[in-house]
Amino acid sequence: MNDAELKSWTWVMPDGHSSNDWGLYRRRLEALAERRGWELVTLGTVASEPLLMLRTGAGSTNVPHLLVAGGFHGEEPAGPWGVLEYLEHAPLEQLSRVQLTVLPLVNATGFRAGTRFNAFGENPNRGYLGLPGENPSREGVVLLAHGDPLLEAARDGLLTCHEDVLLSHAYVYSCEPADAPGAFSKSLLAANAAHFPLHPDGTVDGCRVTDGLVFNHYDGSFESWLMKLGVARAACVETPGQHPIAQRIAAQRAMIEVFTAGA
Ligand code: NI
Repeated sequence: MNDAELKSWTWVMPDGHSSNDWGLYRRRLEALAERRGWELVTLGTVASEPLLMLRTGAGSTNVPHLLVAGGFHGEEPAGPWGVLEYLEHAPLEQLSRVQLTVLPLVNATGFRAGTRFNAFGENPNRGYLGLPGENPSREGVVLLAHGDPLLEAARDGLLTCHEDVLLSHAYVYSCEPADAPGAFSKSLLAANAAHFPLHPDGTVDGCRVTDGLVFNHYDGSFESWLMKLGVARAACVETPGQHPIAQRIAAQRAMIEVFTAGA
């Protein structure tokens, strides 16, 4: 763990609230669910904070089943805020064509503190596959206990919303059952590139990145777990923390739109 991982990162948002305002986040999410009649359930709790899951859409099995998840890392707030803004503004016609399930903010204690890991120093995006030296976080234990419903929810696609606080370039991790990236990966990358310069070719976090994309990399993450369980495709989008928070939230929201519309 380096200094950046221990540090607390927060930003002032355009409305004057702090990016780690979990109380505000929950109030807006709960009000939205109430207004739209969407089911908001608590999958479990970590340090008394709920791990929330929201279900929108048709409730039909014949439409694409998509899962969007944000806030695994607490110093990456544009994901959860982008999810919330997408949901607040999403055309209902678009949502009616899919079964969209959302884990808006997985790591509430990290989000509140502005720290990457949870209040117990655990990484909520590792430990899903029991790789050597990796144990699931408390959030991971809750999600692992819901493997069947999460697999069903993500059947036709998974999008996780991350940031890279130290960078000024954007990139995307994607997994597809193919030798080369298809429209799924390319459309998310294009939506990210509309907001930021893409990461130069080379390595990022020890992975080979080409044209802003890390393709078919597997590790102990939530994405890799659900891919292994059989979801059709998965992506983890990364917005660069060195850009203004409003721009990062807008990019996250745009990528969720592309993900949902493209299914
Ligand atoms: Ni992250």
